[in-house]
Amino acid sequence: MSGRDELLGGHEDDDETNETGETLSGAANPVDESVSLEASLVGDESDEAGLRPQTLDDFVGQRELKEKLRVVLGAAKKRRRAADHLLFAGPPGLGKTTLAHIAAKEMGAELHITSGPALERPGDLASILNQLEEGDVLFIDEIHRLSRAVEEVLYPAMEDFRVDIVLGKGPAARSIPLPVSPFTLVGATTRVGLLTGPLRDRFGLETRLEYYEPDELQSIVLRAARILGVDIDVDGAAEIAGRSRGTPRIANRLLRQVRDFSDVDRDGLIDLTVAKDGLKFFGVDDRGLDKPSRGLLEAVCVMFEGGPVGLKTLSISVSEPTETVEDVYEPYLIQQGFLMRTPQGRVATASAWRHLGLTAPTRAADPAPPPGLFDES
Ligand SMILES: Nc1ncnc2c1ncn2[C@@H]1O[C@H](COP(=O)(O)OP(=O)(O)O)[C@@H](O)[C@H]1O
Ligand SMILES: [Mg+2]
Repeated sequence: MSGRDELLGGHEDDDETNETGETLSGAANPVDESVSLEASLVGDESDEAGLRPQTLDDFVGQRELKEKLRVVLGAAKKRRRAADHLLFAGPPGLGKTTLAHIAAKEMGAELHITSGPALERPGDLASILNQLEEGDVLFIDEIHRLSRAVEEVLYPAMEDFRVDIVLGKGPAARSIPLPVSPFTLVGATTRVGLLTGPLRDRFGLETRLEYYEPDELQSIVLRAARILGVDIDVDGAAEIAGRSRGTPRIANRLLRQVRDFSDVDRDGLIDLTVAKDGLKFFGVDDRGLDKPSRGLLEAVCVMFEGGPVGLKTLSISVSEPTETVEDVYEPYLIQQGFLMRTPQGRVATASAWRHLGLTAPTRAADPAPPPGLFDES
């Protein structure tokens, strides 16, 4: 072990490579211990990895973002330098992690994966940085959840490829700069508003993933069906796509559910009727709202008489963490014009009442177009 490793408390032997060839780096392998928001929400996604597009060409939709990425990655490759640091923002399930994999692959670089909550101490991050080789890609998921102390380690690493190791305490403390190999940081976040200014400023490219259009989701469903060997026609795929809340992860999940329904209750081919019956069976309504989303809307309408109701109160009433309500359920409800965020709290719109088959009190208004969809309130 070199002196440099000792300073960092490096654990050379802890490096592991999983089946897909990714290095899971970090002192005590912080990846394994992290309870990702996403993982806790999506349930069993065991064949999800096989569905991930491997290249930019494979990645459906997000045209503008893809073009920018193509330029940034292409330029870096041409100059044989690590690409600019990349930030992907947007609701869960739209392809942030997938893009991190693709960025590394397009660069022919090794990908190291960790997440904000997994990096508890500055040393955790310093140790990962120390293991990077020139051109590697470091992916930090949920980067808005990094602690301030860990973030401080990241600044000089991103800017000058350097970490400052502090030895000792108080007046005797010394800071020793250690070089880090030039690397590309890829950050993903569901809450770009929670990032500090200095961190945000250090990304060369900041992009936002948008909800997908129905035709894009339809191609995602057809692609997934091909990979999973599921028999589906275009109408069946369109039906699933239309109820996927603009989200590829949900499209894939609904496809698997309808496949199960079809395998057991029908002859196998997923056509329009099978798709409709299957989705109904799993409690997904014609606007793509599932039980929890509808439950949230119902709570606002019925329990709180249309609102305004505060986020905390609402979260408690549906037994979900505030973060889940804000990051997972609300964005789509707001985008669809069912829910509004106002300074007084959450308010149900007239179309929410209509959608739930309830009679709205006269004061419930239809919303203005939703401009600040992802704004933090
Ligand atoms: N543009 C896309 N084209 C095809 N499939 C996609 C696309 N974006 C996401 N997916 C699918 O959705 C799943 C979830 O994407 P992921 O990258 O994990 O989302 P996020 O990290 O934003 O939560 C992926 O496994 C992939 O199968
Ligand atoms: Mg992800």
